Amino acid sequence: MATFRSFAKINLSLRVAGRRADGYHELSTVFQTIDLADELEIRRRLQAGVELEVRGADLPSDERNLAYRAAEAFLRERAPAGEGVSIRLEKRIPVGAGLGGGSANAATVLLALERLFAPAPDPAWLQRTARRLGADVPFFLVGGTAFGAGRGDVIRPLADAPPPRGDLVLLLPAAGLSTAEVFDALGAAPIADRGVAAAGAVPTSGAEFAAWVGANDLEPAAFRVLPALAALYTSAVRSGARRVRMSGSGSTLFALYDAAGVAAEAARFWPAGIVWKRVETLGRAAWRSAGGWESAGGE
Ligand code: C5P
Repeated sequence: MATFRSFAKINLSLRVAGRRADGYHELSTVFQTIDLADELEIRRRLQAGVELEVRGADLPSDERNLAYRAAEAFLRERAPAGEGVSIRLEKRIPVGAGLGGGSANAATVLLALERLFAPAPDPAWLQRTARRLGADVPFFLVGGTAFGAGRGDVIRPLADAPPPRGDLVLLLPAAGLSTAEVFDALGAAPIADRGVAAAGAVPTSGAEFAAWVGANDLEPAAFRVLPALAALYTSAVRSGARRVRMSGSGSTLFALYDAAGVAAEAARFWPAGIVWKRVETLGRAAWRSAGGWESAGGE
C-alpha cells in the first residue's frame, strides 16, 4: 500500500474565446497548484476490478467517480489481466468548488498506478487518457503553474509563478456550482474549433504573483447561477483584498492581500456560512515530491 496526495488548483486567469461545435468552450487559462490536497491510499490486489472507498464527502464510489474511471482505464489497458486495485480516498478539497478535486484525484490515480504496476512508461497514453477523463485532468499530470488552451486540456508547463507576498485566501460558499451549468449560463457565441485561444497572454517571467491574476470570464455567468457569490465578491473587495477572483467555474473565490497575517482580520467581512482558508501556492518540484508517486516503488 502507498499513500499519495492530489493537490487542488486555482485558475489565476480564465478567458473564454467562444463555444465550439462539440459543445465545449475554447479557453485560455493559467492553472496554479495550491497546498490543499486529498489523500489516496492505493494498493494492488490479485483480484480484478476497482474497489473504491470515499471518506470526507458524499460522493459515489463507482463509475460516476473520476478516480474510479481512471483506475478502470489503467487496469483495462496497462495492467496484467486479473489484477485490480483498492483505493481509499480521503476528501479534503471541497466538491463543486472549481478547485479541480475530482480531476486531481483521477490524475493522481493514473500517476500512482504507473508507479505501482510499473508498465513500460507511456507518457502519450497518460495524456490521452487524462484528456478523455475530463478537460481539467491533463493539468494535474503537470502541476505547478501551467497554461491551458483548447478545452483547457492542451497544457504548456510554465516556470513557477512566484509565491504571493501577502495572504492568499480561499472563500468557500456552502453551495457548490456545476461546471456544465455555469458554461451554459455564459451563452458564449459559437466559434471555429481550433486555434482561437492557443496563444493566450502569460505574464513575463519575474512578474509578481498579483500580476498573474487576470480576468475570469465565467464570473458573470456564475454570479447569475449563484447570486450570493456576487455578494461575497463585493465583501472580499471591501475587505481590502488587492485581487479577488473566482477559481474555474466556481464556487470558490480567492482573495489576495498585500500583507501577510491579515486573513483573520478580513474574515469579519464574510457573510455567515462562508468557510475561509489561507493557502500557499506550490511550485512544480514541491508538488512532485509531495504527491508521493515519485518515491513509491512497484509492489
Ligand atoms: O470535461 P469535464 O467533464 O470536466 O467538463 C464538464 C462540463 O463543463 C462539460 O460537459 C461542458 O459542459 C463544460 N465545459 C465546457 N468547456 C470547457 C470545459 C468544460 O463547456 N472547456
